[in-house]
Amino acid sequence: MKKRLLSAVLATGLTAATLAGCQTSVTPATPATPDPDPAPTGDVDPDPAPAADGETKKVGVAMPTKDLQRWNQDGENMEKKLKEAGYEVDIQYASNDVNTQVTQIETMIAGGCDVLVIASIEGDSLGTVLAQAKEKNIPVIAYDRLIMNSDAVTYYATFDNKLVGTKQGQYIEEKLGLKEGKKGYNMEIFTGDPGDNNARFFYGGAMEVLKPYIDNGQITVPSGQIEFKDVATAEWKSENAQTRMEAILSKNYAKGEKLDAVLCSNDSTAFGVATALANGYTGDYPIITGQDCDKPNVKLMLEDKQAMSIFKDTRTLADKTVEMVDAILKGGEAPVNDTTTYDNGDHVVPSYLCEPVFADKSNYKELLIDSGYYTEDDLK
Ligand code: BGC
Repeated sequence: MKKRLLSAVLATGLTAATLAGCQTSVTPATPATPDPDPAPTGDVDPDPAPAADGETKKVGVAMPTKDLQRWNQDGENMEKKLKEAGYEVDIQYASNDVNTQVTQIETMIAGGCDVLVIASIEGDSLGTVLAQAKEKNIPVIAYDRLIMNSDAVTYYATFDNKLVGTKQGQYIEEKLGLKEGKKGYNMEIFTGDPGDNNARFFYGGAMEVLKPYIDNGQITVPSGQIEFKDVATAEWKSENAQTRMEAILSKNYAKGEKLDAVLCSNDSTAFGVATALANGYTGDYPIITGQDCDKPNVKLMLEDKQAMSIFKDTRTLADKTVEMVDAILKGGEAPVNDTTTYDNGDHVVPSYLCEPVFADKSNYKELLIDSGYYTEDDLK
C-alpha cells in the first residue's frame, strides 16, 4: 500500500461516518440504515401458522443493541420475514445491557411467545431466564451468538464463526507473503467482547493461521499483547479499540517503527484502530481486517484504509432462522448442517452455519451493490 499521511486521508472517511449519524468521530458504525427491501431468498412457507386454537403464533426476537448497523439489519429482516410467513413478532433491542435483555425475554415468555430467537449480549447470562422457557416448553434458537451453559437452547443459527477468523488470518498471510517465508513484519491484534462466545472463534480461527508465524519470528507483535484476554475489546466498542491502539502507538511505534498489519475481528474494532492511526501514525498504511461490511468500513475499504471485511449477508441468516422457526412451529425438525462444533457447556447445539464471504475492493460491487444489499448512494 502507498505511503501516506494518515490523518489527512482518513479525514474524509471519518467525516462520512460522522455525517452518517455518529455522535463523535470515533463512533463509526453507529447509524443503522437497514436494507430497505431485502430480496427474498428463503423457502419460507408463506402460509400463516395458526395455533391449534386458531390464534396466530408469536415469535419473540431479542436483539442485543441498536448501536451497530448489523443488528438493526438482522432485526428488520427477521421481523419482515416472520410477518410474511404469518407470525406475530415481538422484537426487542436491549441497548447492550444484560439485565434489560433478561427482562425483555421474561416479558416475551409471559406474553405467550411460542418460540424465542435470541442474539445474546453475554452468552453466559441467560441460564436462569431460559429455565423459565424450558419449563414452558418454548424452543429457543440462539441467533448468531451461542448461548452458553443452558439446556434450554434448541438450535443455533449463525455464520461459520471460525471460518470468519480463518479468512481474516489467511488474508494477512497472503498479503504479507508469509507462506513464501517473508519476514520482518509487525502486527497488532484486536478481537471482541469476552462475553461474546463468537469472539473466541474469530480469534481462534485467525490465530490458527497466524500464530505459527509469530512463533517462528516472521511476525513480531511489538506490544506483546497476543493472548485473548489482552486483545479483547469490551462491548466491541470502537472507542475502546481506539484507546488501546493509541496506547500501543505511543509506546511501541513512537520512533517510526512500521506497522504492517492489524488483525481486527470486526468492523467496529477496525474503525477504532483506523481512527487511532489517523491521529498518530504516519508510516506505510497497515493491512487492516474487519467483518460485517458496515457502511463506514466499506467506505474505508474504497479509500484503501481498510483492506478487507467479511460479508455476512443478514438476509441469508434471517431466511434460515425463519425456516427454522417455521419447521419447529409446524412440529418438525429445523434444518441443521453442523452437529459437532458448538458445545455450549451443556450440550452440543444442532446448528445451521451460513457461509461468510470475503469482501474487498475487488468484489464489493458484486457482493454488496448487485445483490441489493446496499445502493451506490449508501456508500457515498
Ligand atoms: C457478530 C459480529 C459483530 C459483533 C459485534 C458478533 O457476535 O458475529 O458480526 O460484529 O458481534 O456486534
